[in-house]
Amino acid sequence: MPEMRDMSQMTDRSTTDRQYASTDRLETRRSVWGPGPEGVSPTDLLRANVVSSGFGRILEIGCGTGQFARSVVDEAPTVDYLATDLSPAMVEATRALGVPAQVAAADDLPFSDDAFDGAVAAWMLYHVPDLDGTLREVRRVLRDGGTLHVATNGREHLGELLREAGGEPLVTQFMSENAAEVLGRHFEHVTQRDVETRATFVDHDAACAYLATFSPELARSLPHFEGPRSYAGRTAVLTAR
Ligand SMILES: C[S@@+](CC[C@H](N)C(=O)[O-])C[C@H]1O[C@@H](n2cnc3c(N)ncnc32)[C@H](O)[C@@H]1O
Repeated sequence: MPEMRDMSQMTDRSTTDRQYASTDRLETRRSVWGPGPEGVSPTDLLRANVVSSGFGRILEIGCGTGQFARSVVDEAPTVDYLATDLSPAMVEATRALGVPAQVAAADDLPFSDDAFDGAVAAWMLYHVPDLDGTLREVRRVLRDGGTLHVATNGREHLGELLREAGGEPLVTQFMSENAAEVLGRHFEHVTQRDVETRATFVDHDAACAYLATFSPELARSLPHFEGPRSYAGRTAVLTAR
């Protein structure tokens, strides 16, 4: 079974520890994404949602390399933003961007009840071993009426590329198709906007390098192509409060 391909691997702690032990794989993946046919970037939409929900104290879980956190702080300098991640390398990268960050597991947050006005979980809820436990934990540290901002991928995310390489689209526990239902188990009001994005690879090697960040086997089996290629990504941006 290729690395990080099935649901159990997506949430397996030792697999995610390896996957995010350094920032390289995530940076390789982030670098190819741009807006889709509507010209909308899910990250821009997520940021606009966070900023428009009012400032105060915001907690990000699974912050990765910290670019999203940095961009929120740049747009809203008075925000009290704390970024967290399970991976010490991600926390270090985020601190290097000048954003306060600390190591924390999403399902065991070292904060008191009602400590935050808002929370962010971007492309990370598909990794947590206990999804409902994590959402209960986020709810606990959010004040009444606080908002959770979420981004995730849909079932057909990069489906064309994955099929060309001989694989199948990745099914996870938290996708565009079930995210609103899952969040609705813990929050009263949920909104969702689906956004098509575009991954552009300058050549076959670049597409293989992307696939290799989570499945060396798929990277080896992608048939050769000449020149650049782009593939559709399917994402969703949600708010829950
Ligand atoms: C796909 S990356 C997304 C990073 C960032 N949010 C972004 O959008 O670029 C997933 C991140 O979640 C972190 N992560 C995975 N499981 C976690 C958990 N149980 N608690 C906290 N962070 C976790 C990983 O270390 C990684 O940085």
